[in-house]
Formats: sequence, C-alpha cells, structure tokens
Amino acid sequence: MKTQISLEGKRIIVTGGASGIGYATAKELVDCGAKVIIASRRVELLKKAAAELGASWMRLDLTEEDDLPRAAAEMEEKFGPIFGLVNNAGIQNNKDALVFSAGEIRELFNTNVFGTLTFTREMAKYMLQRGSGSIVFITSGTVYMGMNRNLPYTGTKNALSGMCRALAAEFSPKGIRVNSIAPGWIETDLVRESMAKVPERRALVERRCMLGRLGQPREVGMAAAFLLSDAASYITATELKVDGGVTVSL
Ligand code: NAI
Repeated sequence: MKTQISLEGKRIIVTGGASGIGYATAKELVDCGAKVIIASRRVELLKKAAAELGASWMRLDLTEEDDLPRAAAEMEEKFGPIFGLVNNAGIQNNKDALVFSAGEIRELFNTNVFGTLTFTREMAKYMLQRGSGSIVFITSGTVYMGMNRNLPYTGTKNALSGMCRALAAEFSPKGIRVNSIAPGWIETDLVRESMAKVPERRALVERRCMLGRLGQPREVGMAAAFLLSDAASYITATELKVDGGVTVSL
C-alpha cells in the first residue's frame, strides 16, 4: 500500500524509534520523504535500526531530565532545523493496583510524562523561533477505557492526552500543530509475545475489536505521517484513535 502523504525534506525526531511502533513510524516517515532521527537509550539498537531505515540516530534518555535541554540543542546543531517530533517512547508495567510501589509509579511518570514533556518543551523552543512545526504524542486506548492491571500507565497516558490539548492551545496560534494518536492493541513483538502466553487474551481482543484483528505498527505510522503533514493543516488539539474500534465496542 503506497501512501501519498509528502514530508519531503522535513526533519522529524521519533523517540523510541528503534523498535515497535516507533520503528514502523520512522519507516513510514522516511518513505514519505522525511529526514528522520530516531532517539532512545540503547545505542547498538539505534545504530542497527538507523542503518536499516536510512535514518539518523541520537542517544536520548528521557529520565535524564537535566540533560534534555542539551540533547534538544544537540539535535538542532547536529542535524539542522527540526520540523516534527513524534513522542513515541514510553514504558508499561502491568500489575494489580495494590502492589505498585511509589518508585514504580514514579518511574512510569518520569519517562512517559515528565521526560516527554520536558523534551517537547525544549524542542518546541526552536520550533517557536521558526513559527512552524508539528508534534504528535502517542497516548493509548487507556485514555478511553478502563483496563485492569494498568493503573499508573493509564494515569500517564491520560496526563499526556490532556496536556497535548493544553500545548495545542498555546502553540497552535504560533504555527505549531499539536495532536495525539491513541493506539489500541498493536501487534509489536512485545504484544505478540505477551499474547502468545495467554491465547484467550488475543481472542478476546480480536472479538471485541470491530475490525476483528490487532493493529499493525505501520497503521500507527501512517496516522502519524498524516498528522505531521500538510494534509492535516487544519488539524490541531485532536486525538486520533487507531484502534479498530476496540475502545467503543461492547
Ligand atoms: P516498545 O517497547 O517497542 O517501544 C518503546 C520505546 O521507547 C523503546 O524503543 C524504548 O527504548 C523507548 N524508551 C523507553 N524508555 C525510554 C527512555 N527513558 N528514554 C528514551 N527512550 C525510551 O513498545 P511499543 O509497543 O512500540 O510502544 C510505543 C509507544 O506506543 C509507547 O508509548 C506505548 O505506550 C504506546 N502504545 C503501544 C501499544 C501497543 O499495543 N503496542 C498500545 C497503545 C500505546
């Protein structure tokens, strides 16, 4: 399937772009003509993924909050003006609500919310100077439905979803569109492995999903390409569900 979205020559960062949804998104953006920079913690994985994708890479750890202004400055200096940012990096931790430690809750918020927002703020400073840019946050179906064993993760993704609208209110009049994508169950290696262990879970998701299947990482990537592109020029403060209808079915 060939998409007709053009991101020709636009520099776009994809955090967590060496695996899963981030990798597929980076590939889609490259295919649309973007100059993609993937950024996450594991250098060896980044190097390998970047070579496969025809992308650039930079090490970035969202939990190193004090270092994020330097990391953002390095992005601009090393690669040139950054137009787009896909905030895809994130962690999960599935446990019963009563057994989460304070440290585990903090860890989830540090990466998914504090690090993500700080890095976004630092990149946005450069975008605001130029008066153009497009930012996409990857949230989750937990913005729309309650899932057991998912308490702090749900909190982080709802925080992002709301703050994405607040950022849009502030940045849109200055030329930067801000949107989010809420994926449902997407068949990444991690999801495939975890579902292989509990086959009835996969069957349940497929039964509940209006399209009768899990989503593919590329289907999130195509949505991100659209939101980043001029094809979405009148779209800001929107959350696009890419979930096959699973969050609104019985
Ligand atoms: P993944 O584990 O392959 O991707 C997460 C990426 O984030 C990894 O590349 C990891 O290195 C990076 N990362 C984690 N902590 C980081 C840190 N401190 N600094 C920099 N990078 C860091 O998992 P997947 O499934 O591709 O998830 C991508 C995003 O999509 C996540 O935000 C996840 O919450 C979200 N999501 C995934 C769904 C799914 O079904 N796979 C459903 C809904 C949302």
